[in-house]
Amino acid sequence: MTDNESKSTAAVDTEIGQVVVEKNLATAEEVTECLAEQKRLAADDRHRSLAGILVDKGVVTTRQLERVVKVVEEIRPTQQIPGYQILSKLGAGAMATVFKARQLSLDRLVAIKVLPKRFSENPEYVERFYKEGKAAAKLNHANIVQAFDVGESGGYHYFVMEYVEGHTIYDELAGGKVFGEAEALKIAIEIAEALAHSHERGLIHRDVKPKNIMITTEGVAKLADMGLARLAEDTQAAQAEAGKAYGTPYYISPEQIRGEMDIDFRADIYGLGATLYHMVTGQVPFEADTPVAVMNKHLKEPLLPPDHINTALSMGLGEIVEVMMAKRREDRYASTIDLLIDLESVACGEPPLQVHRILDAHSLSTLAEEERPALETPSASTDIRTDIRNILIYLLLALLVASIVANIIQTLE
Ligand SMILES: Nc1ncnc2c1ncn2[C@@H]1O[C@H](COP(=O)(O)OP(=O)(O)O)[C@@H](O)[C@H]1O
Ligand SMILES: [Mg+2]
Repeated sequence: MTDNESKSTAAVDTEIGQVVVEKNLATAEEVTECLAEQKRLAADDRHRSLAGILVDKGVVTTRQLERVVKVVEEIRPTQQIPGYQILSKLGAGAMATVFKARQLSLDRLVAIKVLPKRFSENPEYVERFYKEGKAAAKLNHANIVQAFDVGESGGYHYFVMEYVEGHTIYDELAGGKVFGEAEALKIAIEIAEALAHSHERGLIHRDVKPKNIMITTEGVAKLADMGLARLAEDTQAAQAEAGKAYGTPYYISPEQIRGEMDIDFRADIYGLGATLYHMVTGQVPFEADTPVAVMNKHLKEPLLPPDHINTALSMGLGEIVEVMMAKRREDRYASTIDLLIDLESVACGEPPLQVHRILDAHSLSTLAEEERPALETPSASTDIRTDIRNILIYLLLALLVASIVANIIQTLE
């Protein structure tokens, strides 16, 4: 074994040792014991990897070891982030991998989102990543996963944030849960508070969905990925161009599907509406075989009201979701605060007054639209007036003809 080989084997052994303990597969003492055994063997010129010894001693099974090796391989590229010790992988989304880590300076747990290397190839993405990361770090709200830091190391761009002990709404939905109205409203109110806070400061989330709503062990809802979603949009667009598969867009607003440039807070209201719909009905608002077909339905298909699917829901909640998911953003809430007012009213068993105001204004404008063509086609009263006028004209003409005829007869006589 060369010097370099033994160094890298030692590095892998350290990583494997850490992960085995982190995953509770072995105690630190058992690992130390195996490392001591490794040393004894090496002195005898019988070199063995830590992994081999762990299996030999029956501390872990071969299956468990395979899994551990996979974790070690996944976290290896991020071992180089200075100031942080990567502990384990938390999950992976469409564009990045999230790790649990320890920030050494403050001795606190954090979550680090590491973007794939290919992301660095587009300087525009990178610039936006830093700009939005900075904007997100300025926000401070109990219902927003706090952004701490952005940086680059070894060609990987990363985003450091508050570590949330808990799970996502997606996890619960995937487990088949249908949320009761009260619980769903509590979560929707907390996320709407988070959105109102960021909207006031000019930051739009753009990717409100069950996977980006975390519930802490204390039961507090927190909106994740603030300042990162723009990236998801870009990445999805790039992947779509490259013909690769990407996440099915169950919660995306019609204007984002159309690729409009001036996306505003109403896109987040739509995303939260679609998420709320899924929570209280157990099904996504629009389902189809392909992402394109789902997007088409967001654009064109009328929404089946959630209270028609789950009849236990109040009419007020149904109305709120319908307004949140209006196809035209002009027909949604005029502000996130208006939405909050309605969510809180319905949570107290009162009707959603803002929805009623929107619907009243809406029915007035549709009435006006219905009247407009009526002005072009004559109404019954104008019909009669025109008829009388025509009869009078005919009468006058007849009188004129009669007098001319009478004159001619007189002249002839
Ligand atoms: N701040 C965090 N704390 C703990 N876990 C997190 C955090 N952020 C993300 N995760 C976990 O990592 C997973 C992947 O996150 P992400 O890459 O953002 O996926 P997605 O694109 O689907 O939102 C999440 O589903 C969640 O389980
Ligand atoms: Mg996310």
